[in-house]
Formats: sequence, structure tokens, C-alpha cells
Amino acid sequence: MRSYTFASSALLSISGVAGSVLMNNGLAATPQMGWDNWNAYGCDVSADLLLDSAQAMADLGLRDVGYHYVILDDCWSDGRYENGSLRPNFEKFPNGMAAIADYIHSLGMGYGMYSSAGKYTCAQYAGSLGHETTDANTFASWGVDYLKYDNCYNEGQSGNPNISYARYEKMSTALNNTGRPILYSMCNWGQDRPWDWAFTIANSWRATGDITDFFDRPDVRCPCEDKEGLNCEFPGFHCSVMNIINKMVWTIQRSQPGGWNDLDALEVGNGGMSDEEYKLHMTMWASMKSPLLIGTNVQTLDAKSYSILTNPAILALSQDPAGAAIIRRWSYQVPQKDIFGVGEVQMFSGSLSNGDYAVVLLNAATDEMHMNATAGDIFVDEGGKISAAAKSAWDVYDLWANRMPDSVANQILQSNGTAGFSAAQNYYYNATAQSYADGIAANDTLLMGTKVGTLEALGTLKAMVPAHGVMAYRLRPSNATAVSKRDEL
Ligand SMILES: *[C@@H]1O[C@H](CO)[C@@H](O)[C@H](O)[C@H]1NC(C)=O
Ligand SMILES: *[C@@H]1O[C@H](CO)[C@@H](O)[C@H](O)[C@H]1NC(C)=O
Ligand SMILES: *[C@@H]1O[C@H](CO)[C@@H](O)[C@H](O)[C@H]1NC(C)=O
Ligand SMILES: *[C@@H]1O[C@H](CO)[C@@H](O)[C@H](O)[C@H]1NC(C)=O
Ligand SMILES: *[C@@H]1O[C@H](CO)[C@@H](O)[C@H](O)[C@H]1NC(C)=O
Ligand SMILES: *[C@@H]1O[C@H](CO)[C@@H](O)[C@H](O)[C@H]1NC(C)=O
Ligand SMILES: *[C@@H]1O[C@H](CO)[C@@H](O)[C@H](O)[C@H]1NC(C)=O
Ligand SMILES: *[C@@H]1O[C@H](CO)[C@@H](O)[C@H](O)[C@H]1NC(C)=O
Repeated sequence: MRSYTFASSALLSISGVAGSVLMNNGLAATPQMGWDNWNAYGCDVSADLLLDSAQAMADLGLRDVGYHYVILDDCWSDGRYENGSLRPNFEKFPNGMAAIADYIHSLGMGYGMYSSAGKYTCAQYAGSLGHETTDANTFASWGVDYLKYDNCYNEGQSGNPNISYARYEKMSTALNNTGRPILYSMCNWGQDRPWDWAFTIANSWRATGDITDFFDRPDVRCPCEDKEGLNCEFPGFHCSVMNIINKMVWTIQRSQPGGWNDLDALEVGNGGMSDEEYKLHMTMWASMKSPLLIGTNVQTLDAKSYSILTNPAILALSQDPAGAAIIRRWSYQVPQKDIFGVGEVQMFSGSLSNGDYAVVLLNAATDEMHMNATAGDIFVDEGGKISAAAKSAWDVYDLWANRMPDSVANQILQSNGTAGFSAAQNYYYNATAQSYADGIAANDTLLMGTKVGTLEALGTLKAMVPAHGVMAYRLRPSNATAVSKRDEL
């Protein structure tokens, strides 16, 4: 029997008993990485799309930086056979689904599929509500490794956590009963507060309405903002990157190894945001421990998208073994010259597995901004504003300073990977050869970024932050710190 202990993440991190109360399939110890076709292709799916995208991910080295799962979203089915099993659309998938899984496995990757905890999927194909065991068995028989499980047409079975929990728990149990480890990715848009209950039954849960490829554009179809997102009755869709970040800051610390708040698939590469905005998007999804699912056409990636998606120093935040999401320490409004008149700056920080600290200065305003973060605010969790940590000196590493140049990325992209990786060795981290955990333990310089200075004891970290941009840092105790720490203790 599974034990449904409800424990806060704070309690878990203190008692150090994580694995024992979580979804017990051994998956997603760090946020899952992969590719999902939805943001770029919607319903336009086919065997060729899956196979060519998987091949491109392997050839271009996306697989080897950690993007493991190739996920087929909605619109793949053609109803049910008379015996009740789901039937693939054989026009789109002439050789069926097991053939897709075999090919993806042959490339060393995992295969993801999609259904809904409803009568229909969101695009009105057959859903799995009431068919959980049959469908879980079908997915397992095809060799599926990952299930994205949506929330459309749920027949009114939502409205409080108990009802939603029961509906999603059925598929969790059915997947477990197949005996095949299948990463279970709930997609109930934050309805009924999944961050309170989903970590005992799922590896991740979507926590907001669907993302859109805009930085901060308000949209009536994504009605809830900020704290309203906690009890959002209509999560909607067309949610901007800043809308999602501002909703997630309250609950993000409920993520933990084995169970993650899912901020939705990435939009990097889809063209609706600037380079700075995509860097911000990537930095925040990684440091808030969202699953990282590429959501663009990987066969036509441009150099800048490639260098964002593969930045090892940022991926090292996502895949840090401690699994602690970054925490917002402050945000305030600043004047800006547009119809809104005000923009926002925010500071995030959080501890990493090896005693390092991550710091993100986020400027959501329309002008570049000279931002200031005091050691007291950065290390407030370490015992107040004048803790030993705040009174220590820290070396500051810029996590975007060693970004892969466009010329190097283009060599990889234009040769389909055949000619590029030797030139990329100062920028490209092969996580298949050495895991992020091992690389972090070994102080691999690719995962550190570039040292740009020192934060003095009780000092202020200052940086010019681009409009709609971030500066992201790893702080590491400097040699001076060891001495001053000893002095303090
Ligand atoms: C099923 O759940 C049990 C614990 O309840 C766990 O030990 C086992 O590994 C799980 N199996 C799969 C395939 O998820
Ligand atoms: C249902 O029928 C289809 C088509 O013959 C078959 O592939 C599938 O395995 C059957 N399902 C079960 C549970 O026997
Ligand atoms: C919780 O939901 C189950 C069915 O989903 C129902 O039997 C039970 O009465 C509910 N409990 C409460 C306290 O609402
Ligand atoms: C940071 O500090 C500088 C110097 O005191 C000040 O001019 C600037 O406005 C501050 N930045 C913000 C965003 O408050
Ligand atoms: C790379 O692959 C694409 C198709 O995936 C092909 O059209 C192109 O010719 C290949 N380029 C090289 C240099 O092999
Ligand atoms: C990464 O390392 C693995 C294992 O050593 C190797 O097979 C693969 O070719 C490498 N990938 C790249 C892109 O260098
Ligand atoms: C990594 O760096 C830390 C801090 O500078 C040091 O204490 C540790 O010994 C280093 N580890 C290795 C394997 O070099
Ligand atoms: C710390 O000091 C040693 C020499 O004492 C030096 O080799 C090392 O690079 C220093 N580490 C850092 C992070 O500055």
C-alpha cells in the first residue's frame, strides 16, 4: 500500500526523509527534461515529426545535455477499439505507437504520451476518465515512459482537492500497477491546489494556465494574477512568462525531488520574445525547478535559442541534486515609460547542494536598471540579515557570461552535430558522460559560469540588468570566507 502522508517540504528538508513519502517510482529526482510538441505544433502531429525531432535532439546534442523525454501531446488517437483499448490514428502513425517508442529508445531517450483525466482530451479525442487501468496498460505495452495527463472534459470532477486528488490518483495507481516506471506528469493547471497534495501521486503537476509566447502581455483568457493564482477558479490559457512567475513565487517551495511544480513547456525558439526575455524565461524555469521541456521546432533551431537551451551553468541550477527552488526575497515597482507607467524588479536567491548560492536579479521593466541586492537579503534564510553567511565574502560567478557564441552554435546546427562539438568544448556540457551532480561535485568550470567579482562581507551585489532581463549568479564561499567563517563561529 502507498502511504499518503501529507508533509510540508520544510519538514521534509529538515527531517531528510524525502523519498519515503513521495511518488514512489524513482523518477524525476531532478526536474524532468525533454521536448513536447504542443507549443510549436499543436495538433499537427505525425510519426515523422516524432522520429525526426528525436533524431535531431540526439544529433544536436540536446539529448546529451539532459533533454531525455520526447513527448507526443494531444491529437494522436482515433477513439477506441471494440475491446475498449485506445486506437492510434494510423494515418498519422502508420506503424503504431510501439514503433515510435522503439526508435526513441534506440536513441537512448524516453517516450512520452498524452491523455486527459476527462471524458475527452482537450482537443476532443477519447479521454481516460473511467478507463485508467485499460489505458495505463496500453501505454505500458507500447513502451511509454512518461504520461502527460490533462484536465479537460472532467465531467465536473473538480472544485475541491479531494475530488481532483481522487481523479488523478486513479491513473497514478494504474500506472504503478503496470510495473513499468512511467513518469506521471499531471496537467490540472493548478486547479484545487495540487502543490498541497500531488507529490504523493505524481512526479509533477502543472501549476498555472497554459503558457503563451509573450513576456508580460496581460490576456483576459488568463484571468488570475499573482496571489489570486493560488485559488484560481479559471486558470485559462495565454498566460505570459511574468504572469506565471508571479503566480508561482508563493508555492514554488513545495517542489521537491520526485515532485515538481510545472510552469509549462518552454517557449524559447518560438519567436514571440526577445533574446533577453528568453534568457529570463530559461533562467527562471531552471531555478524555480520547473520541468524543462523544449517547446519549439528542434529541426530549425537558431543559434541563440540553442545557446539558451544548452547553457550548462543554468542547467546546473535546474539539475542541482538538492532540488531547492529559488525564493523571491523582494519585488518592488519602478517607473517606466509605457502605458502602464510602472514596471517591476525582483530579487531571488536560494541555496544549492554544495553550499553555493544562486541569485537572480530580475528586471521586468522596460528600461535597463541598476539593481542592488544586499548580502542580508540574499542570505536571509541563513539566520537573519547579519548571519555568518552575510558576514562572509563570496566569489560571484555570472551564469550567462560563458554563453556559447553564435558561430559555435551554428557549426553544430549546420553540420547536424557532426562537426561542432570539438569547437564547443568550452561551452557544451555532456551530461550523458558526466551527470550534473558529479560535475557539480567536481567543480566543473562549465557548470560554474565565469567569475566576475567578490561580494564582500555585508556587501551589496550590484548589477546593470537589461530591460526584460536577468542577471544570474552562482555565489561560492571565497577563500577569505573560510577564514571569516571560522572567526564568527
Ligand atoms: C509502485 O509503488 C511502490 C510503492 O507503493 C513502489 O515501491 C514501486 O516501485 C512502484 N512501481 C512502479 C513501477 O512505479
Ligand atoms: C484490443 O484490440 C486491439 C486491436 O486488435 C489490440 O491491439 C489490443 O491489444 C486489444 N486490447 C486488449 C486489452 O486486448
Ligand atoms: C472525498 O471524495 C470521495 C470521492 O471522491 C468521497 O467519497 C468523500 O466523501 C469525499 N470526502 C470529503 C470529506 O469530501
Ligand atoms: C540601486 O542603487 C543605486 C545607487 O544607490 C540607485 O541609483 C538605483 O536606483 C538602485 N536601483 C534600484 C532598481 O532601486
Ligand atoms: C542535416 O539534416 C537535415 C535533415 O534532418 C538535412 O536536410 C541536412 O542536409 C543535414 N545536413 C548535413 C550537413 O548533414
Ligand atoms: C556525450 O557522451 C557520450 C558518452 O560518453 C557520447 O556517446 C556522446 O557522443 C557524447 N555527446 C556529444 C554531443 O558529444
Ligand atoms: C570544489 O571547490 C570547493 C570550494 O572551492 C572545494 O572545497 C572542493 O574541495 C572542490 N572539490 C574538488 C573535487 O575539487
Ligand atoms: C584559493 O586560494 C588558493 C591558493 O591559496 C588558490 O589556488 C585558489 O584558486 C583560490 N580559490 C579561489 C576560488 O579563489
